[in-house]
Amino acid sequence: MVVDGINRIGILTAGGDCPGLNAVIRAVAKTALRKYDLEIMGIEDGFLGLIQNRMKPLDNESVSNILTLGGTILGTNNKIAPRRYPMEIDGKTEFRDVTDRCLEYIASNKLDALVVIGGDGSMAIASDFIRLGINCIGVPKTIDNDLYGTDVTFGFATAVSVATDALDRVHTTAASHHRVMVVEVMGRNAGWIALHAGIASGSDIILIPEIPFDIDIVCDCVESRSRRGRAFSIVCVAEGARYKGGKQVVARVDPTSPDPIRLGGIGQKVAEDIETRTEIETRPITLGHVQRGGTPVAADRVLATEFGNKAIEILMEGERSRLVVMKGRTVTHIPLEEAENKQRLVPLVHPLIQAGRNVGTCFGD
Ligand code: F6P
Repeated sequence: MVVDGINRIGILTAGGDCPGLNAVIRAVAKTALRKYDLEIMGIEDGFLGLIQNRMKPLDNESVSNILTLGGTILGTNNKIAPRRYPMEIDGKTEFRDVTDRCLEYIASNKLDALVVIGGDGSMAIASDFIRLGINCIGVPKTIDNDLYGTDVTFGFATAVSVATDALDRVHTTAASHHRVMVVEVMGRNAGWIALHAGIASGSDIILIPEIPFDIDIVCDCVESRSRRGRAFSIVCVAEGARYKGGKQVVARVDPTSPDPIRLGGIGQKVAEDIETRTEIETRPITLGHVQRGGTPVAADRVLATEFGNKAIEILMEGERSRLVVMKGRTVTHIPLEEAENKQRLVPLVHPLIQAGRNVGTCFGD
């Protein structure tokens, strides 16, 4: 059965970009245009474009040839929320709730539903709109893989592949120079990227936020490898990892952003400590936004296409306010509001942690 009353939909990409966004836009637009003859409006720069009424019609031509393209053709923004829109008032920045303005533009552009491609912050904004009667369908995006309700987000596989490639490359130079190399990867408060890239690259030490580490144990591991003739070690550290009893290292604070903390710098600290304590030359590397850019790997293109297609299919089946998710090997959907402001961290009993321990990986505990 195809539901009545859905003729024109808006689509936006919000939050940090990640590989596969364009593949979702393509799948949403092509399914909407080709199968259901809907109109589709691309909203620019995430919720900022909705606040500023910046949107344009998407046709087959505008979404052709973008499957493999990194970034997002619509643009994005990870600082703006309609409930907290910064305005210059008497020379000062003040925050105003401009949700009503968004509702007016949704109505004046005759949008019957919104497809929101984003992470936890974007789903919190979408939840606000749902409570005000707007039908939002969420598609989970983030390299961090930390969105509640789905086993996997698109973008994660590409980030893991980029980080693994970097760790592999660092491995050979570390071995040649008999050094320790500390590679800091992204992931916010979750250790998914570090855990997967660390295991895939055979890193000797993996440090994740979910397991606060003891630097003595980390240094013991490096030294014991050295005693066994392994004069180099590879440490894969998540940006959110922290010393036992310590705090996460903050790289910058952006007070205009709804999520103002940007993590970063733990790799440098760990490298300094390892070098001081073991007297083995140690170099830190931060991968940063390299993990978010460029062409999505095949698995992310497939997932993004499945997610985008599902978003339109469930909309046309009459579903309202759902989040498309992957459970096991099935693409399904849950109430979108369930994912609002929740993070999915690595469980301490995760089989990959156990597998790592079994093959001799040190987690610093
Ligand atoms: O959520 C994706 C992510 O890349 C995190 O891994 C990282 O902590 C953050 O975004 C960086 O944000 P920004 O692009 O604002 O520096």
